[in-house]
Amino acid sequence: MSRIAYVNGLYVPHGSAAVHVEDRGYQFADGVYEVVGVRNGRLIDEELHLDRLDRSLAELAIARPMSRAALKLVMREMLRRNRVRDGMLYVQMTRGVARRDHAIPERCTTSVVMTARRAKAVRLEDLREGVSVITIPDIRWERCDIKTISLLANVLGKQKACAAGVYEAWQVDAQGFVTEGTASNAWIVTKDGQLVTRHTDHAILSGVARRSLLGLAKEEGLALVERPFTVEEARAAREAFITSTMSYILPVVEIDGAVVGSGQPGPVTRRLQDRYMSYVDGPGARA
Ligand code: PDD
Repeated sequence: MSRIAYVNGLYVPHGSAAVHVEDRGYQFADGVYEVVGVRNGRLIDEELHLDRLDRSLAELAIARPMSRAALKLVMREMLRRNRVRDGMLYVQMTRGVARRDHAIPERCTTSVVMTARRAKAVRLEDLREGVSVITIPDIRWERCDIKTISLLANVLGKQKACAAGVYEAWQVDAQGFVTEGTASNAWIVTKDGQLVTRHTDHAILSGVARRSLLGLAKEEGLALVERPFTVEEARAAREAFITSTMSYILPVVEIDGAVVGSGQPGPVTRRLQDRYMSYVDGPGARA
């Protein structure tokens, strides 16, 4: 079956889907995006993703190209045309096409691109094994809260992780605090049982999986603190894990080659994985 992409109002074959060479997304990374997980034919936490998309657009003063209702229709149509029951939907909006000039053009029509990809349904047992991370300096700009397509620092960071043979790179700010992964949020469980993840400010992306998990952790009655933590604290932690739309919750069992806790995914992480899995399969993620 051939894949279909959405490009500015048209459903086109994926292989020939294209935007103009002077699209500002292409020339300046002047745009934003969302990756939404698809599970059992449903978009996980769709409203939270669309809220964040609205916020990213507003922060960059990019015009909303269509109503939320219209956008949701296109998103569903993309799942239908690509027969995606499990997988992901990618939505990208850029400022549009204009003669190359750094200054923002007065009139621009927001470009909208979507792709959808099928993937094997995520199973709890696939997430149980722990992954390793390395730490790297955070060389990104000061507005990491905006989900922009300007991802070069993240790309280079992920490549360092790949070269080191590990799953993810945790970025570390000038003060020695972990900000987040290149495509995930970072969490630890301290020796005294506190669940810690960095507070949301301009230094990190407010992850949708992070947001949902915070709510679930509160319901579980876990001692939860949103604050920065250092690499040393993470290495000395009892447990660590990462969250993201596509990898849900993944235990981290090694940081820079040093074993975290027992070297096995810990009980708090496993409990949160169980809870999150029921959440994505239940009505909560659809509200
Ligand atoms: N990345 N931090 C960064 C820098 C990210 O790029 C992502 C997600 C996250 C986790 O956010 P969420 O829980 O909303 O997926 C945190 C997506 C999946 C990507 O770029 O592919």
